Amino acid sequence: MRAALVTGGAGYIGSHACKALARSGWHPVSYDDLSLGHRALVKWGPLEEGDIRDRARLDAVFARWRPQAVLHFAALSQVGASVRQPDLYCDVNVAGTECLLGAMQTAGVDTLVFSSTAAVYGVPAHLPITETTPVAPTNPYGETKVAAEAAIRRAAESGKLRYAILRYFNAAGGDPDGETGESHEPETHLIPNALAAALGKAPALELFGDDYPTPDGTCIRDYIHVSDVAEAHVLALSRLAESPAPVVCDLGTGKGVSVREIVAAIEAVTGRAVPIRKAPRRPGDPPVLYTAAQSAQRELDWRPERSDLTSIIRDALIWQTSCKPT
Ligand code: UFG
Repeated sequence: MRAALVTGGAGYIGSHACKALARSGWHPVSYDDLSLGHRALVKWGPLEEGDIRDRARLDAVFARWRPQAVLHFAALSQVGASVRQPDLYCDVNVAGTECLLGAMQTAGVDTLVFSSTAAVYGVPAHLPITETTPVAPTNPYGETKVAAEAAIRRAAESGKLRYAILRYFNAAGGDPDGETGESHEPETHLIPNALAAALGKAPALELFGDDYPTPDGTCIRDYIHVSDVAEAHVLALSRLAESPAPVVCDLGTGKGVSVREIVAAIEAVTGRAVPIRKAPRRPGDPPVLYTAAQSAQRELDWRPERSDLTSIIRDALIWQTSCKPT
């Protein structure tokens, strides 16, 4: 069976990717230091514990499993924390990626799918975003992802690396079978926080700003089901096996949804009110982000099949109510 090394495989998106890989005949080997990931989410293959910056450990894991490809999720990903700890973000996200690239080169592994983000675009001058929109990150998190993308392009100049860079918009929801889901500590994302408020696990949802220049005053984002994000990685591996041309794709639905629309959809799905406490704008939040979402369809033949709001919220609810480890 073909092995794929999944850095960050014990995390939210990485664990969904492991499930998608296993379903497609891959043997996912998770590499995770468990600083943010959860041992309990590694269900579709072995776990190798290790830091992404630990070259000797990576070399040993490559030698043991001889993977054909790498999916690189391991990273720090909170915008606010990146402002407070830019050096740490640079170390883990950029130096960590460079360390992984070095280990891949030594091991002769030539295929990489990289987890990037809409944060590389900052506040775009034109909407919808496309992959030709200039990158202009407005926080250290986005800057580290731009730098990691550049490191991958540099490594590919050798002609021995095939890569796909997937820039996620707002990954949300959970595994429809309840086998994995979102377990961040602390949780900063809108949908789990709004669900917690609806279920009475939190006193209220803090609504960060309702005076944005949008129709209802709240921020607009492009929410994409995490299982659709995971599937795109499997398709990217197939595409790279067919052709060495690099792939750079946004993963989104092409549709922007406001915070208030998310709250209304959660109220409709749960049948419960979401208590709201208005709060100031969160620093660094762009008012509107959504992608045209065409190149992933064209390049990967990918369709966001589960990304309607009702499915996203239902699947997030399954995890919140019955499966999430406490
Ligand atoms: N929001 C609230 N209350 C909350 C949480 C979020 O009002 O408790 C609002 C935010 O202000 C924002 C929207 O809901 O307007 C979405 O916020 P999320 O935190 O769910 O997601 P972001 O758009 O901030 O972040 C996502 C990814 C990041 C990535 C970023 C790129 O999670 O990793 O997109 O812009 F960097």
